[in-house]
Amino acid sequence: MKHLIVVAHPGENSFTMALTRTFAAELEKLGHSQRTFDLYRSSFDPVLRARELAPVDADHPASADVARAQDDIRAADVLTALYPLWWLTMPAMMKGYIDRVFARGFAYESHDGVVHGLLSGKKAILITLSGAPLPLLVKSGNWNAVQVLQDTHIFRSAGFELLEHLHFDQVVPQLAHAIAEQHMARVRSCAQQHFAAS
Ligand SMILES: Cc1cc2nc3c(=O)[nH]c(=O)nc-3n(C[C@H](O)[C@H](O)[C@H](O)COP(=O)(O)O)c2cc1C
Repeated sequence: MKHLIVVAHPGENSFTMALTRTFAAELEKLGHSQRTFDLYRSSFDPVLRARELAPVDADHPASADVARAQDDIRAADVLTALYPLWWLTMPAMMKGYIDRVFARGFAYESHDGVVHGLLSGKKAILITLSGAPLPLLVKSGNWNAVQVLQDTHIFRSAGFELLEHLHFDQVVPQLAHAIAEQHMARVRSCAQQHFAAS
């Protein structure tokens, strides 16, 4: 299978980036091809400009970086998005990727306010991290908000079959080595569970 991994974290040595490298390496070990789109290191421009709101046609082609990113999605069977939860949502860099790349006519159409996803047939995995413990997020209703707004309103609405939303909670700067290793094993097993040859 062809995998596209999209990651948003400013720190190259962050735990988010380490999880990303581990997931990508496991996919390759399983015999899959993967391309990692590291939004920060690629200096992706997350700002949607007014001219990009016009429908794409011969006179108004998609911006070159958006067209490339959309080609990458077209070519992929599976899109995996990795990011930390910041203020309970995705970093602005990832949100800007969604705003610009998941454009009308490419990722969705809407009629009378009803959204119709155009990326059906493709699969997605979300891998997120938080400082807060997951049980606290669940108890406060915040986890439900994450799932409604990110899993469903973005990825499922665009037509993806969401295979898993894997969440790592209580990720703090000085994460104990043993916990970090458990998380790396968990992200490897996510790849194995969904993509090992049966
Ligand atoms: C700007 C900012 C906002 C954050 N907001 C939240 C939050 O709303 N809830 C939460 O549990 N953690 C929050 N965090 C903590 C991050 O989710 C946590 O530090 C991160 O997942 C750890 O991954 P990393 O080591 O790869 O950065 C925030 C961190 C930053 C920098």
